[in-house]
Amino acid sequence: MKKLYASITSVGCFLPKTILSNSDLEKIVDTSDDWITTRTGIKERRILDKGIGTSYMAIKAANAIIEKKQINPLEIDLVIVATITPDMHATATAAFVASEIGASNAFGYDINAACSGFLYGMSTASAFIESGRYNKVLLIGADKMSSIVDYQDRNTCIIFGDGAGAVLLEPNTNGLGVQDEYLRSDGSNRDLLRIEAGGSINPTSKETVMSKKHFIYQDGKNVFKHAVSNMSNAADQIMMRNGLTKSDVSFLVAHQANKRIIDATSNRMGIEDDKVLMNISRYGNTTAATIPLLLHDYESKFKKGDNIIFASFGAGFTWGAMFLKWAYNQ
Ligand code: UT7
Repeated sequence: MKKLYASITSVGCFLPKTILSNSDLEKIVDTSDDWITTRTGIKERRILDKGIGTSYMAIKAANAIIEKKQINPLEIDLVIVATITPDMHATATAAFVASEIGASNAFGYDINAACSGFLYGMSTASAFIESGRYNKVLLIGADKMSSIVDYQDRNTCIIFGDGAGAVLLEPNTNGLGVQDEYLRSDGSNRDLLRIEAGGSINPTSKETVMSKKHFIYQDGKNVFKHAVSNMSNAADQIMMRNGLTKSDVSFLVAHQANKRIIDATSNRMGIEDDKVLMNISRYGNTTAATIPLLLHDYESKFKKGDNIIFASFGAGFTWGAMFLKWAYNQ
């Protein structure tokens, strides 16, 4: 039997309509459009309405694929949602998404790996496809970061935004799809980027709410240093392991946390700017959604056989890189 590769065969997305611009933030915290733009590359981000959750965006992104590909939802085997902002604790957002899109023959679960959630999800999904066990896996990266951001904390509120992106993974027997992965984590640094309360160590109490421990906290400077060294190292490793030179790489699809982190990674890889995909200026850091949102925005540029390097870094710490051969022309 021919080797099965896990290929991406369609991409969908959803972005909330409400825009929170840098000048809007200037009115809320002590910051400026100039500071945010030069330090991060972000100009604006999207914010989902109150009262609806991550599943709302994930369902829209999934339905975009179902409509575009004209697939019967009953053929979907597995739905994975990568998120750190599930609709609620103790239920998988993916199970709800699967039901709502009519994928009643599928099972669904969430992956919690923050900004690397989508890459880790690609690893899981591709293993299922390569084994021959399942044929249609829907992988969604979705986060409603506005639900965990303190809009009085300028270290975090300027960075994050809401959004969802989805891909369909299917078997390919022509060598197109996921080729290799280099994934790592280091839990010893988890305190540098975290939500302190609401888990089993520090359950919700009046005190945890009053002291704002349910919001995301980050030691930005320290996280930045780890992000630069680990993301660029992972991208470098995946190129070396696969004998790829800079001219072999068609595109870098990197997690959008800070333009300076992406620039450091592409410099280490030695690739030209036009191969480095960016949309951080429009959406900010949407955590698990940044990579599929990039795939959606640049889908028309990709050609069958293109060598794409993915790279990410996030809370945990979690990071890694993947090498994928694109499988279709739009
Ligand atoms: O997505 C998952 C992983 N997350 C990341 O990868 C994020 C990594 N970190 C970062 O992107 C950056 O560290 C930030 C964007 C969060 C901060 O940028 P920075 O260049 O590291 O700034 P800094 O924290 O070193 O602060 C530099 C200065 C400080 O002032 P002083 O001490 O030099 O007077 C800060 O108080 O900028 C000040 N500052 C701000 N000024 C205006 C910090 N935040 C702001 C702000 N607006 N929002």
